[in-house]
Amino acid sequence: MTLWTNRRLVRDENEIRDGQLCAEVVTVTESNILLRRAQQLAQAYVDGLARRPVAAPVSREDLRTALGGPLGDAPVDSLTVVEELAQGVDPGLVATSGGRFFGFVEGGVLPAALAADWLTATWDQNPGLHVLSPAAAAVEEVTAGWLLDLLGLPSSASLGFTTGAQMANFAGLAAARHDVLEKAGWDVEADGLTGAPPVAILVGADCHITIGRALRFLGMGERTMIVVSADSQGRMDADALRRTLVDIHGPSIVCAQAGNVNTGAFDPLREIAESCRDHGAWLHVDGAFGLWAAASPAHRHLVEGVELADSWATDGHKWLNVPYDSGFVACARPQTHRIAMAMRAPYLVRETNGARDGSDWTPESSRRARAFVVWAALRSLGREGVAALVRRCCDHATRFAETLSATEDLELLNDVVLNQVLVRVGDDDTRTRKTAAIVQSGGEAWLGDTVWRDKAALRISVSDHATTTADVDRATTAIIAAAIATRP
Ligand SMILES: Cc1ncc(COP(=O)(O)O)c(C=O)c1O
Repeated sequence: MTLWTNRRLVRDENEIRDGQLCAEVVTVTESNILLRRAQQLAQAYVDGLARRPVAAPVSREDLRTALGGPLGDAPVDSLTVVEELAQGVDPGLVATSGGRFFGFVEGGVLPAALAADWLTATWDQNPGLHVLSPAAAAVEEVTAGWLLDLLGLPSSASLGFTTGAQMANFAGLAAARHDVLEKAGWDVEADGLTGAPPVAILVGADCHITIGRALRFLGMGERTMIVVSADSQGRMDADALRRTLVDIHGPSIVCAQAGNVNTGAFDPLREIAESCRDHGAWLHVDGAFGLWAAASPAHRHLVEGVELADSWATDGHKWLNVPYDSGFVACARPQTHRIAMAMRAPYLVRETNGARDGSDWTPESSRRARAFVVWAALRSLGREGVAALVRRCCDHATRFAETLSATEDLELLNDVVLNQVLVRVGDDDTRTRKTAAIVQSGGEAWLGDTVWRDKAALRISVSDHATTTADVDRATTAIIAAAIATRP
């Protein structure tokens, strides 16, 4: 073991140059050795992704034994630490960024995004204030413009780089809360909610759980949500919304959805937006993955009218295939967005010339300069690459649906309009769940199970650039074999 007593190692190296043996003194720093080793380990992981079991069963105890024990008193040299970490976690790593992980909605990692992520950690920039990183501020500004353009949102909207869609929903709804209460003569940032006029919050029956959670964080409570009925695919009933709004007199916020987490279905956004406009309600759209349909000409119709909303939430770490954590909140009214998020203190050196202080747009004060990675992903793909990524995943989803629904015992439960597929086995909850468990433990592919309209279903989500047709076919074969194995 090498214990680094100072920060440099000096060693002799021999090399052949022009046929001559040359002795050369090479200075190798600690970080040089560490980064090279990290690069080797990372490369080995990436190279092995296609071969490793997607999720290998490993016990919690084994992982804790490898990584746990009391924290020692003495320092451990950094190279040993890196080796121990890589070795200790390996059996517990799930190949979510490989081509055969179809659980939840997990994006993969584009090569340019991965490299930019390393650099982001290396540069260690804090984009909270312009003065802390003019580079991060500039990249946020440029990338925000690209994102608004790709997602079909107004170019005048503000955009903040959050950890994910959960915090993007939080930030969008914080802006909504400010706006509707300000119009009712209440300053929620100064006076809080005690004594404030009640705010009606309308959500579709199949809205994502992070909407309710954001409302909890905002002190508005999940139980206050007025639930508007949804159809068989999870789309909010726009007529029911209009009827409900008629009876609401006061501040109101509507949360619509672009991309249901089970079916992939889209709320009728134009009709909802028109009702909100007529009623003076704020419209927030949760499009964690579905908003990316706007980037694909073949799927853009699904988000028709989305630009009429007041705020939007989406993710980078899902369909844009950047590493965690990466989400975006956009707001049609930048001043409202800023009031809901910004902070002031004499020691915080603020820009007065219009330059961007990133903390104006997100709930965090200090944070990772995640826009570098988004910039790299978008630049490497270009507009056509993003469209192709979305289209390819949707094509794979269609392939899953066609093959599985043509198989005895298997039934398709949703209209496959995007990248989500729901399949039921033998019209039986137990068989369906068993099938998911068999596939998961087999390591060939990974998909989750869910409940849709009171029936258990296998849930397949395709959101990774790495997925190939061969991956889909391998996963399909594994699913069919597992379903057959559950026959009584
Ligand atoms: C529709 C929807 N909204 C919000 C989220 C939350 O996203 P995140 O986990 O990135 O915060 C998800 C996650 O799957 C989602 O599907």
